[in-house]
Amino acid sequence: MLLQAKSRGAFARAPAPSSRNAYSRPARSTCVRVSAKVNVEQLKALRADLFDYINSRGCNPIVVRLAWHDAGTYNKNIKEWPACGGATGSIRFKPEIGYDANKGLAIALGILGPIKKKYPDVSFADLYQMAAAVAVEAAGGPKIPMRYGRKDLEGPEQCAPDGNLPGAAHPFADGSASPADHLRKVFYRMGLDDKDIVVLSGGHTLGRARPERSGFGAPSTKYTNVGPGTSTASPSGRADRPVTPKPVAPTAAASLGTSWTVNWLEFDNSYFRDIKEKRDKDLLVLETDACIFVDDKFRPYAEKYAADQEAFFADYAVSAQKLSELGVQWEEGAPVTI
Ligand code: HEM
Repeated sequence: MLLQAKSRGAFARAPAPSSRNAYSRPARSTCVRVSAKVNVEQLKALRADLFDYINSRGCNPIVVRLAWHDAGTYNKNIKEWPACGGATGSIRFKPEIGYDANKGLAIALGILGPIKKKYPDVSFADLYQMAAAVAVEAAGGPKIPMRYGRKDLEGPEQCAPDGNLPGAAHPFADGSASPADHLRKVFYRMGLDDKDIVVLSGGHTLGRARPERSGFGAPSTKYTNVGPGTSTASPSGRADRPVTPKPVAPTAAASLGTSWTVNWLEFDNSYFRDIKEKRDKDLLVLETDACIFVDDKFRPYAEKYAADQEAFFADYAVSAQKLSELGVQWEEGAPVTI
C-alpha cells in the first residue's frame, strides 16, 4: 500500500513485527512505508504482541469490555467530533474511566498501557479496538475485519458525559419499562439495530460479573473458583495457549464473580445455549441477557445463534467491526487494514 511519508521522507524507520514474546522489543528495524499518521508496521507488531500477551494473561474478557465501553458512548445524533463519542480512546481519561459503568476497567488500562509505550504511533483508540478483536480471536472466536487509523481525542474535557452505556436491570435510568426497550434506546442511539444487539450480547460468552464492580454476580461459583472453566483445550488451535493460573480465594475487595458460561475464556455460542436452557443457577443471566429470548424481534436471532455457532461468528464479526468504528474520525491515509 503506498502511503504518504511520516516525517522523514517517503520511507522512515519503524519497528519490524516483533518476536512472539510479550513485552520483548522488536529485534530489528526495516525500511517500511508509513502514512502521515498511521504506522502500519507498528500496528502489525502490536497485534503480534497482543496475541501473546492476552493469551498468557487470560485477560480476554476485560479488554473486550474496555473496547466496547470506549465505543459505546457514541451518539449518532451529535454531528461534531469528538462530542459524538465513540471509539476515540476517551475511556483512558478521568472522568470517563471513573464512571460507575466503567468500574474495574482501570485494570484493563493498566494492562494495555505498558504495551502502548512500545508503539507510540498507534492511537489509544486503535489499541483498544485491536485488543478486543485479538482477544476474541485468541479465545477461539471469529476474525474480525478490523481497520485502523482512529484519531484519539486529546483531553478529559472532551469525554462523553456519563450515562451512555446500558444498565443491566430495573430500574433503568432512562425510565424504560422493559430491558428490551432499554437496549433499543441505547443501541439505536449508536446507530445499531436489533441484530447487532443480540449478536453483540454474545460477548458475554467471555468473562464474569463481580459484585464489587457492577454489583452483579456472586463472589464465586463452581465455575469461577476453579479458573476459566474445565476445558484446557486450545480453542484457537494454538497448542501453546496457556491456561491461566487457578485463582486465589475470593475476598471482599476482589471476588471471582459469576460467569455467563462454563468455559468463560472460550469464545463460542454457549452464551445463547445456556440462556435458552436456563440450565444452571451458577451461570449469570442479567435481565438484559434474558430478554433476547423473550422479545419477539430479538428471539429469532438468539435462537439462530444458539443453534448455529457459525452463524453467530459470522454476524458477530460484522457487528463487532461496526461497533469498533462508531464515531471514528480517521487519520489522513486511513482507514488501513493490516
Ligand atoms: C447489552 C447490554 C449490556 C449490558 C447491560 C452489559 C452488562 C455487563 C455487566 C453488568 C458486566 C459485569 C461487569 C463486572 O462486574 O465486572 C459485563 C461484563 C462484560 N461485558 Fe457486558 N453488557 C452489555 C453488552 C456487552 C457487549 C456489547 C459486549 C461486547 C461486545 C460486552 C462484553 C462484556 C464482557 C467481555 C464482560 C466481562 C468482563 C470481565 O470479565 O472482566 N457486554 N457486562
